[in-house]
Amino acid sequence: MLRPFLMFASLAFFAFSAPVQTPPPSGAPAAAPAPAVPADAAQTPNPVKPTAESQARAKQIYGYDCALCHGEKGDGKGDVAADMKTPMGDFTSSATLKSMTDGELYYVILKGKGQMPPEEGRAKPAEIWNLVIYLRSMSKQ
Ligand code: HEC
Repeated sequence: MLRPFLMFASLAFFAFSAPVQTPPPSGAPAAAPAPAVPADAAQTPNPVKPTAESQARAKQIYGYDCALCHGEKGDGKGDVAADMKTPMGDFTSSATLKSMTDGELYYVILKGKGQMPPEEGRAKPAEIWNLVIYLRSMSKQ
């Protein structure tokens, strides 16, 4: 008399311990890839007001740390541009950075992206924000 009960109990155990798998509703989009830039970082407004000095400093940093890849003028034709697997945008065209917020540009410069090395630990935060302004000014020169 006990046997059928045990069998039922173990079956029930298996049935209820099986992982619950709810199929995704049909037509649901596939899981979106993690955003490259976290939303809060993308929305951070640029906290610096550019001055002649801070922009001269940004130009200097750009010359040291960015020009070898992005080119002195920002046209994406630096000395090692040919070694880059992902094409670099042309900063001399206002369309290139238009779709990115200051916060996104800051984050990419701070953390790096693909073959681009991070600036974190090299330039100070205020210098990076000034670099963002400097990059945007390259299409106006
Ligand atoms: C070693 C070469 C290299 C250096 C140095 C470098 N970059 Fe880049 N940069 C790249 C490459 C490659 C990409 C494209 C990355 C990708 O989309 O995978 C890129 C992308 C960018 C972008 C666009 C981001 C986007 O998502 O389209 C900005 C803005 C940028 N770099 C700014 C800078 C600044 C400012 C510096 C200097 C502080 C710098 N980079 C230094 C190679 C470099």
